[in-house]
Amino acid sequence: MKLKNIQIREANRSDFDDVMKIEKEAFGQDEEAEIVSQLLKDKSAEPVMSLLAFKDTEAVGHILFTKAKIEANEPSPSIYILAPLAVKPEYQRQGIGGMLINEGFKKLKEIGAEMVFVLGHESYYPRYGFKPNAGSFGFAATYPILDKNADAWMVYPLSSKWTNKVTGRVVCADALNKPEYWIE
Ligand SMILES: CC(C)(COP(=O)(O)OP(=O)(O)OC[C@H]1O[C@@H](n2cnc3c(N)ncnc32)[C@H](O)[C@@H]1OP(=O)(O)O)[C@@H](O)C(=O)NCCC(=O)NCCS
Repeated sequence: MKLKNIQIREANRSDFDDVMKIEKEAFGQDEEAEIVSQLLKDKSAEPVMSLLAFKDTEAVGHILFTKAKIEANEPSPSIYILAPLAVKPEYQRQGIGGMLINEGFKKLKEIGAEMVFVLGHESYYPRYGFKPNAGSFGFAATYPILDKNADAWMVYPLSSKWTNKVTGRVVCADALNKPEYWIE
């Protein structure tokens, strides 16, 4: 069933408690909420794209895109990492995750972003256009991904020129730059 009356807008400071609640409920632990909190304070992640989905007046889903760079390219193409994506358990499997991804793509295109990367489920993100095995297109992850999980590191091209441009290792924002966050 697809839900109606879902509104998506950019999150602001006063939404912080709602964002934390969604992250904690979706993941059933505090770790992702803590990472989001760190990323929202992280200068190297700016400008972030933080979106909230509302069902009527209740905040039910959150997505965060943070700025990244392609190593040894100055200036780097405008690229982002999607992490994390969270929907409250009782609202999952109703299309809200997909709506947040698509709205994020739309807004990132508007600000001139060229690519979005994600490390995640290879049965989920390709539904929304992500290409598995970004490494095979020349984009190594910030920390090496095991060969058996290579497909989990994915790229979504926002611009048609993406493959003609630079390649290289994707360097994430400081708050994501820990090897333990890069195990799929
Ligand atoms: C993953 C998540 C964001 C998806 O949000 P959602 O609103 O349920 O997603 P959508 O409704 O757009 O898509 C649902 C489809 O994705 C599939 N799906 C959901 N979570 C999935 C997962 N972890 N792996 C593979 N497929 C998944 C469902 O099977 C469903 O497909 P179906 O209805 O055809 O069976 C949500 O389930 C969630 O918050 N999970 C916990 C947190 C998490 O794992 N986040 C992603 C890692 S960053």
